[in-house]
Amino acid sequence: MVKIKVTPWEVSGEVDYKKLIKQFGVSEIDNEILSRIKKHTKELHFMLRRKIFFSHRDLKWLLEEYEQGNKFFLYTGRAPSGPIHLGHLMPWVFTKWLQDKFNCELWFQFPDEEKFLFDRNLSFEEVQKWTYENMLDIIALGFDVKKTHFIIDTKHAGLMYKEACKVAKKISFSMVKASFGLKEDSNIGQIFYTSMQAVPAFLPSIIKGKNVPCLIPHAIDQDPHFRLTRDILPKLGYYKPASIQCQFLPPLSGVKGKMSSSKEYSIYTIDSPKEVEMKIKKYAFSGGKDTIEEHRKKGGNPDVDVSFQYLKFLFEPDDAKLEKIYEDYKCGKMSTAELKEITIEKINRFLKEHQKKREEAKKQVERFVYK
Ligand code: TRP
Repeated sequence: MVKIKVTPWEVSGEVDYKKLIKQFGVSEIDNEILSRIKKHTKELHFMLRRKIFFSHRDLKWLLEEYEQGNKFFLYTGRAPSGPIHLGHLMPWVFTKWLQDKFNCELWFQFPDEEKFLFDRNLSFEEVQKWTYENMLDIIALGFDVKKTHFIIDTKHAGLMYKEACKVAKKISFSMVKASFGLKEDSNIGQIFYTSMQAVPAFLPSIIKGKNVPCLIPHAIDQDPHFRLTRDILPKLGYYKPASIQCQFLPPLSGVKGKMSSSKEYSIYTIDSPKEVEMKIKKYAFSGGKDTIEEHRKKGGNPDVDVSFQYLKFLFEPDDAKLEKIYEDYKCGKMSTAELKEITIEKINRFLKEHQKKREEAKKQVERFVYK
């Protein structure tokens, strides 16, 4: 089997999610687990219905604990290193839904050393700016300030470092090399880093003085960290964290990879309506035919059409409406220009609201930071 390259710092080539399930050893989100979730949430988020969140570890156990009154907390994070694009938002939109439905605490980590260590050109000054900017986007998504705690690795080092050392002591260099593709000449900060990302999975247990189950929603590329975390936490006397993984939002150029600021154009949360329009019109890969005549006759391919995928992944929660667009595009009744118009309109409507909330978030930041 050809290995797909997906590590926390590199995703290349075509990502086949079915293969990744095998390669990573995660479990598929099946209908049984979905109905189990639905028992508690009454409805299913469209990212679950559409299997955009497609795999998990130990969700069954987590729900069993929950059913017995042992409530879990959520943990996710963002390594600040640049502006937020639409792809980043996906797991957080879902995390917000989980917080609402299960009424749980969220611990949100900002590992401000991560990209400093992994990106040669990034200074701590720049990271500091992005930490603040990224926090605005996260707050704008509507997390409950009373139940959400931001932890910033360098700021909360006093709280985290000792715990990270306990994790680090159980990880050998060869384990890290194998899990993350690090090399002999990787800097030693990179080798240590994963132990910092493990800490929020058990920090609430330490603070509360009792074991609390943890659920980590994240994009699949972060799984190598949590595979290690899950190996180690029981050795330190904590539960293994459960996790749930989502696919990547496709890049503008086509449906098989990951939207990435470092490689090409992305749509950012601070883009103007004109920029969004230009990016979708100019760069969004289309599943349409070359001429409108041919398109009307033979129809388009929504499965490879990036505008359609953005509706499916983020912007059209209504299954019936999405299905109608799918059918209309496939049979040629809807043209590429029309489909792009719908997507542009949806993204811009979302961003207008988001940008307003992002402004308002400036007054809130301090209240979200853990004290
Ligand atoms: N490593 C993640 C990134 O590159 C940030 C992160 C820290 C994270 N803790 C997490 C992501 C927990 C998901 C879940 O952005």
